[in-house]
Amino acid sequence: MDRDRLLRELSDFLRIPSVSTLPAHNADCRAAAEWVAAELRRLGCRDVQFLGSETHPVVWGAGPEVSGAPTLLIYGHYDVQPPDPLAEWTKPPFEPTVTGGRIYARGSADDKGQVFCLLKAIASLDKMPVNFRFLIEGEEEFGSTVLFDLLKREPQRVEADAVLVADMSYVAPGWPAVYTSLRGLCYAEITVRTAKSDLHSGEYGGAAPNAHEELSRLLTRIKGEDGRINVPGLYSAVQRPSKTELAAWRKLPFKEKDFLEKRVQGKALVGIKKYSVLERLWALPTFEIHGILGGFTGEGAKTVIPAEATAKVSMRLVPNQKLRTAERQLAAAVKRLAPKYVTATVRFLHGADPAQIKLNHPAFKLLDQAFKQVVGRGTVPARAGGSIPVVPALASAGAPVILTGIGLPDDRLHAPNEKLELKQLWDGIEVFGRFYELLGNSR
Ligand code: BES
Ligand code: MN
Ligand code: MN
Repeated sequence: MDRDRLLRELSDFLRIPSVSTLPAHNADCRAAAEWVAAELRRLGCRDVQFLGSETHPVVWGAGPEVSGAPTLLIYGHYDVQPPDPLAEWTKPPFEPTVTGGRIYARGSADDKGQVFCLLKAIASLDKMPVNFRFLIEGEEEFGSTVLFDLLKREPQRVEADAVLVADMSYVAPGWPAVYTSLRGLCYAEITVRTAKSDLHSGEYGGAAPNAHEELSRLLTRIKGEDGRINVPGLYSAVQRPSKTELAAWRKLPFKEKDFLEKRVQGKALVGIKKYSVLERLWALPTFEIHGILGGFTGEGAKTVIPAEATAKVSMRLVPNQKLRTAERQLAAAVKRLAPKYVTATVRFLHGADPAQIKLNHPAFKLLDQAFKQVVGRGTVPARAGGSIPVVPALASAGAPVILTGIGLPDDRLHAPNEKLELKQLWDGIEVFGRFYELLGNSR
């Protein structure tokens, strides 16, 4: 295939700022959906439809009928995370730049570059090996509500012999992976109110409660310095990974020291010390503070006691935990840990159940073979710390959900200077092309 042309086409896709969480970008999300639809039509899809929403539609497609061949459902997302902080990008996030064998842009790895890879792998083949179905959504980055509702109404959309999701990365360069779990997510705003309105910090300071101070104390009560989350019941459903799984993780090319120095680039790792870093990242729930609003944050100085403060927080959930239960537990903990003299409320924004995938279907072997043939190494089983809300629903008709990807761990998803290595893309096009053919020959 003509790589220059492919890069031009990928750049066209990446140039669309399809930030699903910001209403100002609704038209851009729609434009990205149109881009995907045009691509599906070019692949010969009969029936390309926009489902579920005017602004962030799910793009549905059904490829040409290949009688007797298996059906493969491809899932991906065309929406991206907001690009800020803009000042930290070396090149603007929506002006894709190719340099040093990489393409830099928001969405290059998560997930437009990978959707592109899956589609171009089909275009690279001489004939259609399987019956393709496509569900490419535009709301993954803020909870997939549209697709959830759609699949509740039309569960037959996920009927297939296998589902392929490429929205993850290798575990290390040269080490492709297949994932056995994804964490779930419980995203909330915790608001603390301490008075009817803001107060002069000279007139009242020393005697009136301060919403930011109360919120900070509440947050540090919820998660202590030792890394434990003090939400009663939260850990009761958590299962330790088996001895075999822990032993397998020790063989992965993962060094805690490199993770700190090259990936985190901080001075120390935190969390519950008695568990390995991989266990903390993959098999334990988290509580993170994403941002704190309220009080005075403008330029200059203002002496005020804020009456209200809000923290945006989330908990990641691991297999066997349930979103609904975790929500109840967090709400109860906030009530219990806040002092009587403040009003503390919790508002849940979105969430996802964790997903657990068994690798016993023959399709996993075919993906392993495809990677072995192209990259020289098969897939290692790993877990993912991130979430893809709709994965449990994709699995609901019984098809195996193959979670894999062509990214690398240092692609900087959701962060400034997100990139995709071109070698990963070119290899990926070959790998998935091979996989489709192997799957087509498997009957
Ligand atoms: N592709 C990621 C999920 C991911 C990231 C899986 C890294 C494995 C490793 C996905 O686009 C994502 O960012 N999901 C969000 C979902 C949320 C906003 C509901 C996430 O995990 O924060
Ligand atoms: Mn993604
Ligand atoms: Mn993402």
